[in-house]
Amino acid sequence: MTSPVFVAIDTPDLARAETLSQTLAGSVGGLKLGLEFFAANGPTGVARLAEAGLPVFLDLKLHDIPNTVAKAVEALRPLAPAVLTVHAAGGRAMLEAAKAAAPDGCKVVAVTVLTSLDATDLGSIGVAGSPADQVARLADLARASGLDGIVCSGAEVGAARDRWPQGYFVVPGIRPPGADVGDQKRVMTPREALDAGASMLVVGRPITAAPDPAEAARAIAAAL
Ligand code: C5P
Repeated sequence: MTSPVFVAIDTPDLARAETLSQTLAGSVGGLKLGLEFFAANGPTGVARLAEAGLPVFLDLKLHDIPNTVAKAVEALRPLAPAVLTVHAAGGRAMLEAAKAAAPDGCKVVAVTVLTSLDATDLGSIGVAGSPADQVARLADLARASGLDGIVCSGAEVGAARDRWPQGYFVVPGIRPPGADVGDQKRVMTPREALDAGASMLVVGRPITAAPDPAEAARAIAAAL
C-alpha cells in the first residue's frame, strides 16, 4: 500500500528540502510544499524536489476571483501536483474554476476555517456561528462545487467522513505516540487519524526534526 503520510517540507532552504526529499523518498507517500517553500523557491524549486519521485501536495491555499485562480492553477499544471489547496471561502464559482483548471488526477481540496481562527475572529470578519458550523457549511460547499475533499483536524475528520463518505480528507496535527506536540494544540496519532477517516496524514516536524528522518518516517509507516 502507498503510504498516506505526506511530509511537510516547511523550509525556504532548497538544499535542505532536497536532502530531506531524497532521504525520505522510500519511506513517505509524498511531499507537502506550502507557501514558505514556494515563496522562496517557486515552481523551479517544486520541480527540483519532484525529481525525488514522490507525489507533490501543493498547499498554496489559493483564494482570489475565479479567473485569477483558474489561471494560477493552469500555470501550476506543468508541476503535475497530486493535491492542491484552495480556500472554500472563495465561493462556488472560484471552486469550480479551480477544479476545472486542475490537471487530470489532481485532487483539489478546500481549506475551510483556518485552525488559527476562533469564534471571536470569525465574528470580526462577519461570520456568525461557531467554527464547527462554518466548517460544515464550507465542506458542503466544497462538495457541491465538485472538489475532492477538505483539510480538517483529527477532531473533525470523523464527522466530515460521515457527512461526505467519498470525500478526500487531509489531516495535519499528527503526532506519533509520545512525540513532542510543539505548537499543535489538538493532535492525533497516525493510527487514530486513519481510523477516524483521514485519507492523507500531514506530518512535519516529527519527521523533519528527528535525528534520523528516514527512520522516524519508517516508524510511523510501521505503526499504520
Ligand atoms: O510540523 P507539523 O507536523 O506540526 O506540521 C504540520 C503541517 O501542517 C504544517 O505545514 C502546517 O502549516 C500544516 N497545517 C497545520 N494545521 C492546520 C493546517 C495546516 O498544522 N490546521
